[in-house]
Amino acid sequence: MARPSKSIHGEWTTRWAFILAATGSAVGLGNIWKFPYITGENGGGAFVIVYLACIAIIGIPLMMAEVLIGRRGRQNPINSLKSLAEDENKSTVWRWLGAMGILAGFFILSYYSVIAGQALAYIPRTFFGVFEGVTPDGAASIHAALVSDPERLLAWHTIFMLITVLVVTRGVQHGLEKSVRFMMPALFMILILLVGYAANTGDAFTRSLHFLFDPDFSKLTANSILTAMGHAFFTLSLGMGAIMVYGSYLPKKTSIFKVSVTISVMDTSVALLAGLAIFPLVFANGMEPGQGSSLIFQTLPIAFGHMPGGQFFGGIFFLLLVFAAWSSAISLVEPIVAWLVENKGIRRMKATLLAGGIIWLLGLLTVFSFNVGQHWTLFGQTAFGLLDYLTANIMLPLGGLLIALFAGWVMKQSSSSDELALGNGFVFKSWLFLIRYITPTAIIIVFANLIGLLG
Ligand code: PHE
Ligand code: NA
Repeated sequence: MARPSKSIHGEWTTRWAFILAATGSAVGLGNIWKFPYITGENGGGAFVIVYLACIAIIGIPLMMAEVLIGRRGRQNPINSLKSLAEDENKSTVWRWLGAMGILAGFFILSYYSVIAGQALAYIPRTFFGVFEGVTPDGAASIHAALVSDPERLLAWHTIFMLITVLVVTRGVQHGLEKSVRFMMPALFMILILLVGYAANTGDAFTRSLHFLFDPDFSKLTANSILTAMGHAFFTLSLGMGAIMVYGSYLPKKTSIFKVSVTISVMDTSVALLAGLAIFPLVFANGMEPGQGSSLIFQTLPIAFGHMPGGQFFGGIFFLLLVFAAWSSAISLVEPIVAWLVENKGIRRMKATLLAGGIIWLLGLLTVFSFNVGQHWTLFGQTAFGLLDYLTANIMLPLGGLLIALFAGWVMKQSSSSDELALGNGFVFKSWLFLIRYITPTAIIIVFANLIGLLG
């Protein structure tokens, strides 16, 4: 198959445009909503260390692999993998790896949009002062009222999907760069403000530092190790082709190594700041760290309801959170849309509406998971729980494992080294060693440990 020298969907104008878009993809609900609550559920410190180790030895090498495959393939993940495999006279079964990623995109966005919808619902609530002087019980019941009402949840989910689809129909390069350039620093600033507020809780702040960074390895179960690893994939948008598809729009001369490190560092900082902002509130108010997916919606309003200017800052915070979720959502549909356009000959507009419609429908499962469908469970999990587990803990790590094998073993070393353009020095050699041996082994060990193969 002949490969285009440029993507038919256009290119990023500069290296920064790519960094901003990929950071926009990485930083999202995963950092601010998910990281704190799964850290709470999995006992803190030791979980955080496993997560950080996974970012370093699995996440960064894999991000480089995805960007390099995308940039060399210059098409949607399915075609890029297929044509790069053909180059090396290898089987085209690798396109199924791309297909699994596309399916993961459908699943993830279906619940992601429902959570983003909740953040959207919190913008007017905060701006209009609903949380003024709120108590922990009050914050909990305001959130419960929102999620127990399927109609309201559905309305916000619909609005969020519409905003996402609207941008993707026009091509992702437009608008994304400008909004992320403004949103990211603003989000950082507001998180720092929240951490500053949290630091005033004195004792609770110290407890949070211990909770987050003092590891108690006896709290780690096989499942929490898998959750930590799965979250490293989820938070960096790896294992499903999102970063690969963005890489396919990347101009030739950019250093893949530098951009991957930059994106990972920014993403990790946002998550740690979110943890430092939220746990002091949890401890200061005698709340339960492991209460689950409603954690941020029950804690942050307390801070905004009591700090000076909280109405304003809180409203801006939820607005920025929705922005961050939106720039991630775009990257979740982009592989699907690129594939529909390239392989099915559907126009971008139609492709986006089609994908968006299916995702919206699938989102109903999550909408109902919090109310009328609370008791529709399988393996003790609601539909939302299952979708989350299946994607973050299974599909993304499995996709990542195969991508590592592809970049390390299927592609010739001469191709990957040409694309990374790092010469043959220490950085390239370390990358090759990690992607060939360490990254795949680590993923396999975590899976094997879970199903009890390691005793
Ligand atoms: N990385 C995003 C977040 O942390 C979620 C995401 C996962 C986006 C997979 C794209 C692909 O919120
Ligand atoms: Na993230």
